[in-house]
Amino acid sequence: MASVLRRLKGRDFLTLLDFTPLELKAFIVRSGEHKWGLTRGDSLKGKYVAGIFEKPSTRTRVSMSVATFDLGGVFLELPTTSLQVSRGETLRDTAQVLSRFVNAIAARVKSHSTLEELARWADVPVINMLSDKFHPLQALTDVFTMIEFFGDRKLKVVFLGDGAANTNHSLMIASALVGYDYVVGAPQEYWPDKDIVSKVEEIMEETGGTLRVMEDPIEAVKGADVIYTDTWFSMGVEDIERRKEVFPPYQVNSQLLSHAAPHVKVMHCQPWFLGQEITEEVAYGSHSIAFEQAENRLHTAKAVLEALLI
Ligand code: CP
Ligand code: NVA
Repeated sequence: MASVLRRLKGRDFLTLLDFTPLELKAFIVRSGEHKWGLTRGDSLKGKYVAGIFEKPSTRTRVSMSVATFDLGGVFLELPTTSLQVSRGETLRDTAQVLSRFVNAIAARVKSHSTLEELARWADVPVINMLSDKFHPLQALTDVFTMIEFFGDRKLKVVFLGDGAANTNHSLMIASALVGYDYVVGAPQEYWPDKDIVSKVEEIMEETGGTLRVMEDPIEAVKGADVIYTDTWFSMGVEDIERRKEVFPPYQVNSQLLSHAAPHVKVMHCQPWFLGQEITEEVAYGSHSIAFEQAENRLHTAKAVLEALLI
């Protein structure tokens, strides 16, 4: 597995679509080694990571910076308001200048095209810390967490709510790479991006996974091993009133859980909005593994940083 990761040196990490099932598995194995204390602490010594933030972040910001520091490197927090891009400097120049100082550029951006433009001009790896379209660091953690709880078996994973959210897109891809049976329960106008669905189906042909997208939340969660949800109001969305109308039937609550497998685990990337997409009872209840999931962001961040940088 170590040799699989070594081949990734210098690569960008913009979407999990750019990685093979074997590469995803290698990230997961390495994350486990970090979690269970089987790694050295100085693999990123002398490495600098620029962390650009166009949007707020708690888990991603702290897991990426602690991961870098813990491995001996330095993470620079750069909110865009403090960079010259806020005064009109181009992404091209920003990428080229930062490439002279740092070994990787990680960015949380409003538009995925910003990451693509940074990656086009940077001479160092560019890492997606969330865009409007994808959240690959999160999905890698999510699959790592599922394997930690369920082992290596095939799972039925159900995402409820905003099927067009970055988290659902990335989790569909990660689930395809590991061959899960994946179901999206969402109002039709918030079904996932069609191009991503086609790519997910292509991957599933190879891995034996399946994808179903449906409107009925109860039908969706029947027999689910994992129910996953995310906010109905992702950062930057504008159609707030429409979302308030269509998403309530997709709330993850105790009644809905009764239709899933008795051992069902509930996952949420957080931050959650209690009483909206998830009830307080379920969020802090015995089925929820959201805080383990949050902790795992640290271990998977280490695996990704090491693979791309050394
Ligand atoms: N899940 C996640 O990305 O959280 P933050 O927005 O706090 O980074
Ligand atoms: N879908 C959410 C994820 C937050 C971590 C958002 O984009 O706001």
